[in-house]
Amino acid sequence: MHRVECDILVIGAGGAGLRAAIAACDAGARVVVVSKSLLGKAHTVMAEGGIAASLGNVDGKDDWQAHFADTIIEGAYLSDWRMAEILAKEAAERVYELERYGALFDRTQDGRIMQRAFGGHTYRRLCHVGDKTGLELLRTLEDQVLHRDIEVMDETYVTKIFARNGRIQGAIGLQMKTGRFVAFEAKAIIIATGGCGRVYKVTSNSWESTADGIGLAYNIGAELMDMEMVQFHPTGMVYPPGAKGLLVTEGVRGEGGILLNSKGERFMERYAPERKELAARDIVARAIYKEIEEGRGTAHGGVYLDISHLGEAFIKHKLPSMYSQFRQFADVDITKEAMEVAPTVHYQMGGIRTDPETAATNIDGLFAAGEAAGGLHGGNRLGGNSLADILVFGKRAGEAASKHALASKLPEVSEAEALQETRRVSSYLGKSAKGPNPNALIEELRESMENGVGIIRDRSGLSKTLKEISELKSRQAQVRVPGTLVFNHGLLSALALENMLVACEAITRSALERRESRGAHWRSDFPRKSRRWHVNMVCFKGAHSMKLRTVRVRPMPQRLKRLIKHEVYR
Ligand code: FUM
Repeated sequence: MHRVECDILVIGAGGAGLRAAIAACDAGARVVVVSKSLLGKAHTVMAEGGIAASLGNVDGKDDWQAHFADTIIEGAYLSDWRMAEILAKEAAERVYELERYGALFDRTQDGRIMQRAFGGHTYRRLCHVGDKTGLELLRTLEDQVLHRDIEVMDETYVTKIFARNGRIQGAIGLQMKTGRFVAFEAKAIIIATGGCGRVYKVTSNSWESTADGIGLAYNIGAELMDMEMVQFHPTGMVYPPGAKGLLVTEGVRGEGGILLNSKGERFMERYAPERKELAARDIVARAIYKEIEEGRGTAHGGVYLDISHLGEAFIKHKLPSMYSQFRQFADVDITKEAMEVAPTVHYQMGGIRTDPETAATNIDGLFAAGEAAGGLHGGNRLGGNSLADILVFGKRAGEAASKHALASKLPEVSEAEALQETRRVSSYLGKSAKGPNPNALIEELRESMENGVGIIRDRSGLSKTLKEISELKSRQAQVRVPGTLVFNHGLLSALALENMLVACEAITRSALERRESRGAHWRSDFPRKSRRWHVNMVCFKGAHSMKLRTVRVRPMPQRLKRLIKHEVYR
């Protein structure tokens, strides 16, 4: 077995992982980044429309206080106030830093970073690069990483983190191209593996988003929070079938796109008369869902999103990816015709519970940042806040982890423990491969989540899904796949399924427990928000099964409370 020693192991090479690696390296730590995918490929690219930061370049009145208030209000008052405050205060500096790193933002007439409107933001706040902002962010960070002394091991799947007495020891991963196991001895580990979108059938997420960090952290006793809060982005493609769920950026609505039902009605006027298409995502997604459910949808099961009134030159300039995406996949010219769209699973608001200042988890030496971490977005994330999140908290995680690492001794991963894990992983391989196919189980799981834990939930659907998850867990134990350890996609699916089941159980249990409707969590049997549930759901591994407890949302200090003008459940 190959052994790698480092101060900090970063698991995940999306925006949060790369920003954490840069910060840790700059603080003097020896950093290894490990990714199951290829460097430069991550769900970060699916935050297309922009990064939220109150630069005030377009709307001069914008400031961090307004950004903070929007984040708390649209997060349905479940966000950790300190995380929201840090985000709102530090996002602008992270954007300027990104620019210094080489990111090429769109510009105002007088040469400043251009900002566009997005749902739930009071001001035009989204700094953007056409509709490729996430891609530009990732490209820029990748460039910075490659010019530093940071080792990147891609196509390596971490299967286990080792912890002893509440402290991490290291991790073990399977290097796909060689089929060789690698033991990582690390003083600190940062989980930046993104979310779990692939547990749903219709999603904007690519194959990487299988809750890996959630599973790895949960298995060693880390707490998860707010897992019931799954974001359905209002606009995904609905056809052709191969493109179903693919993101249609909120930038389309931000630039002036309007939503119409099959009767030609601009239905958002009924659901959100003031903000209309630019209401928060949970509101717009539910409105679209309702229009379709009530028979006012399109032939392909969506609603129309029309931007053609803005003219060809503008559309091709501001939304080039959307233009080519619809042209290539659906043979639709969005400069002349309306798009057809419907909600698609896009983001997990919940995740690993972390300390707001340092991104540290309850396991000594374990940190988490980005979509894998919970706390910031509460019940509903504002568009553009994820790119801000990964820069702000990625940097903080990298700094805190290196501080921790530089003051710690290198732990040891014992040969016996490492071998045990290699045997466990290898035990999925069987010549005759008679056990259930992991991909078939994944499809069943996705179907079950889509049916029982979708946009609108109720007790009977949630209970059914929970039962199906439990059955899938027992069948998962029988999974066998043919082939070897080298580039074995069946094996990767089997390993991913372990983590997906953890996330699905946490989502479903938490959703069943939260007997109210709030943010992205909508219960038809409990259609009101209730003070009783002004709590965060926390899931953790008990001796024999997953446990759940509720904790009061941390009370906000008076100096911040006065910034919130709406009714608050606090
Ligand atoms: O619609 C979008 O461009 C997505 C942005 C985000 O999720 O932050």
